[in-house]
Formats: sequence, C-alpha cells, structure tokens
Amino acid sequence: MAITHCICSSVSFAELKKTADAEGITDWEKLREVRPFGLSCKLCIPYVKQMLIDGRTVFTQSIIE
Ligand code: FES
Repeated sequence: MAITHCICSSVSFAELKKTADAEGITDWEKLREVRPFGLSCKLCIPYVKQMLIDGRTVFTQSIIE
C-alpha cells in the first residue's frame, strides 16, 4: 500500500509539494504554517521531510525507524 497523504489533515504529499514549490519552501515547519499537516499522530512528518529532500510524493515502504 502506497503512503501518499497526511491522513489526519486530509492533505496529500503531492499537494504539499505543490505548495512548497510555489512558495519556495524547503523547511517542513514553514510548510506546515502555510498548509497544515502533521498536527495529530505526526506519522507523516518523516515522509514530508523526505519529500522536501528528494521530491518524492509516493512512498512504497515505511521510512519510520
Ligand atoms: S498522518 Fe499526518 S498527523 Fe497523522
């Protein structure tokens, strides 16, 4: 199963990337100020951090250690 969203905030990583690219945001905390995510269980935060590094918006395996 692909991991593509912050489920708690109902926002996809693709939407977050679009916002980050449009606003020139490279920091996940700044991105969260513009488009809220990661405010509940926080499991999506490592994925958004990785997205900001390499642009991936779909993850096929866990990156949580
Ligand atoms: S999946 Fe993002 S806060 Fe729960």
